[in-house]
Amino acid sequence: MKISPLSPIGIFDSGIGGLLIAKEIKIQMPYEDFIYFGDTKNMPYGEKSKDFIIKNSMKIASFLYEKKCKALVIACNSITSNALDLIHKKFHKKILIFNVIDPVVRNTVFLSYKRIGIIATPATIYSNFYTRKIKNNYHHLDIIQMPTPLLAPIIENGWEIKKINPIIKNYLNHLKSIDAILLACTHYLFLKQEIKNFFHGKVHLIDIQKIVVQEIKKKLDEKKLLCFRPIWNRFPIFYTSSSIPFFFEEKVRILFGKKVFFKTHIFLILSHLCIYYS
Ligand code: DGL
Repeated sequence: MKISPLSPIGIFDSGIGGLLIAKEIKIQMPYEDFIYFGDTKNMPYGEKSKDFIIKNSMKIASFLYEKKCKALVIACNSITSNALDLIHKKFHKKILIFNVIDPVVRNTVFLSYKRIGIIATPATIYSNFYTRKIKNNYHHLDIIQMPTPLLAPIIENGWEIKKINPIIKNYLNHLKSIDAILLACTHYLFLKQEIKNFFHGKVHLIDIQKIVVQEIKKKLDEKKLLCFRPIWNRFPIFYTSSSIPFFFEEKVRILFGKKVFFKTHIFLILSHLCIYYS
C-alpha cells in the first residue's frame, strides 16, 4: 500500500478522549490530515474484558489501515495497555504505530519525582501496564494507582462541573502526598483544570498530550512522512460506531470548527468475515 506525507493519520479511542490528542496533533502539525474513529457504541472500554478490547480495537485498526493511513495513533490508554502487543504484531511492518503510554514512560519527566499518582480506567489499572513500564525505567519511584471508573462515562456523555467536582474530590482524596499526577485516560484530559484546582497547584500534572505528539512528530519527520503544506479540500473525518452522539459532535465542533465530516460506521461480523459499512 502506497503511503506518502499526504496520507492521513488514523486516530482512535472509545469515544471523545482521543479528540484532545487529535487537537494537539493539529496544533503541533497543522497540515496533517486525519481520520478519527470513536467506538461510541462500545464505550466505556475501561469496564470491558481484555478480549473485548482486543477484538474491537483490532477491527478499528484494520479499518483505518484500509483507509490508507500513514500512521495509527492509539489515543486510548485502555486499548494500549490491553491490545498494543497484538495491534503491533499485526501492523508494525505495514504502518507506523503510536500510543499514549510509551512516549510518556520514556520521558525523563519522572526523574524529578519521588511519588506519583496514576488515575485510569479499571482496564488500564488492572493490566499493570503502567507500573511495569515505569518501575522498569525508574526504580526510585513510588507509584499509587487508582481506578476511577465513574469518570470516563460521565465525561463521554457531557459533564457538569458542579456534578463532577465532588466525584473528582472523592477519588483524589485518596492520593495523598504525591509530587505529580498522571491522567492515564485520555477522557480525563478534559478535566485538567478541575484536577489542577483540586491540588491548588501543588501537584504537577504530567502533560501527556504534548509528550505524545512531540514523539509522533519526531518519528514522522525521521521517516519523511511529515506533511509540510496544506492539502486542499481535505477535512478531518470523524467516524463513530453509533449514530453520532450529540456531545461528541459538539466537542468536535468546538475543537475543530465547522469544516469536518461525520460518518457512522457499523462493523458487521459474519463468522470470520468482517464487512464494513460507511
Ligand atoms: N479514553 C480511554 C482511555 O484512555 C478510556 C475510556 C473508556 O473507558 O472507554 O483509557
